[in-house]
Amino acid sequence: MRAVVYADVRTVEVREVPDATLEAGTDALVRITSTALCGTDLHMYDGRTGAEPGLVFGHEPLGVIEQVGSAVQTVRPGTRVVIPTHLFCGTCVMCARGLSAACLRVRAEGPGAAYGYAGMGPYRGAQADLLRVPWADANCVPVPGEPGDGYEDDFVLLADAFVTGWHATATLAGVEPGDTVAVFGAGTIGLLSAYSALIRGARVVYCVDGVDARLDKAGEIGAVPVDFRRGDPVEQIRAERARAGLPLGEEKLGGIDKVVDAVGFQARDRERPDQERPDQVIADAARLVNPAGAIAVAGVYPEKDLQPRPGASAREELTAPWGTLFSKGVSVRFGRTHDRRYTVLLRDLVVSGRARPSVIVTHHGTLADAPELYAASTAGRTG
Ligand SMILES: NC(=O)c1ccc[n+]([C@@H]2O[C@H](COP(=O)([O-])OP(=O)(O)OC[C@H]3O[C@@H](n4cnc5c(N)ncnc54)[C@H](O)[C@@H]3O)[C@@H](O)[C@H]2O)c1
Ligand SMILES: [Zn+2]
Ligand SMILES: [Zn+2]
Repeated sequence: MRAVVYADVRTVEVREVPDATLEAGTDALVRITSTALCGTDLHMYDGRTGAEPGLVFGHEPLGVIEQVGSAVQTVRPGTRVVIPTHLFCGTCVMCARGLSAACLRVRAEGPGAAYGYAGMGPYRGAQADLLRVPWADANCVPVPGEPGDGYEDDFVLLADAFVTGWHATATLAGVEPGDTVAVFGAGTIGLLSAYSALIRGARVVYCVDGVDARLDKAGEIGAVPVDFRRGDPVEQIRAERARAGLPLGEEKLGGIDKVVDAVGFQARDRERPDQERPDQVIADAARLVNPAGAIAVAGVYPEKDLQPRPGASAREELTAPWGTLFSKGVSVRFGRTHDRRYTVLLRDLVVSGRARPSVIVTHHGTLADAPELYAASTAGRTG
């Protein structure tokens, strides 16, 4: 089968690799019809994570079941399925609690695993013709329709991007109707966090980035774009809130109730845009958040940055404004999405027409186009 394989820093190749096959009675083999390219793939592509050459990338599988093992009961060949990024056993105590990204059985060295990701288990990725899906009854979520229909781009975003945006806003930030929300980063995750916040009834959602096309997209989905190249985004948002008018006695709530970091450790330093500053977003978020507000950190922070760019830090310890966070009484929550908790809920919002996450999709290509799509995705990055 063909697969997108990591060759070297900023080099991926489309190669012939041995076909994925069934390895256990509980496995399914899925023929991939669509997959996506995530900011997380780019951390590996940029050489920041210790991905080994030969690793098959990709963790956003949508496809059709080709074969099932003898123990699989709920899906059969021909079923169209989306598969959550973080694979899981479905029966351990963490899976039973709905914390599938912390499954205790899926990786020998620690909790949780993902397809095609360095340090997240031995599972090959989904940017390939075929994917082996362990514990298929738990991991294969049926979706209606036919491959290539009008929902293809919506359903592929259920594997990772939309469930991450939802997790960040609903669970980590706890966005409720009437909240003011700011999302840092207008990549796929930031845009779908903003989109999720709007679905959840946020009063206003600001989306901060420094890339025109992404800011335009934020505006298109109903968020207020904030361009950090025009000045401090915290000041811009506070000024905007003041212009809108704060009710008498509520002037101290001129910041934002719920803030989402959808950037991660490769954040640009706003003062020196050719450099990275991994604590830039937490510094901004702490200044912006309202008293008793919440900050959700969905952007990835690795334990070790193997190729720190100018301004970045090789260490995992970053300085956070602890005193500001304490005195404001802010909740800060981190983490990977427990995707399977949200897949069905968001699928049904899509099918009922309440959500169309595909509104954020900009580029399409075939598997053979992967090297160009990776290069285009990192164009303009620092370093
Ligand atoms: N928690 C999870 O389960 C999960 C799942 C998927 C992705 N992620 C992570 O989420 C993050 C975003 O993913 P993505 O696919 O949208 O990535 P992306 O690289 O497409 O988007 C990041 C955006 O942040 C912007 N940015 C850079 N510095 C900034 C700053 N100082 N302020 C505001 N914006 C800034 C960039 O211009 C870019 O548009 C990545 O770290 C990714 O690894 C986490
Ligand atoms: Zn991802
Ligand atoms: Zn489990």
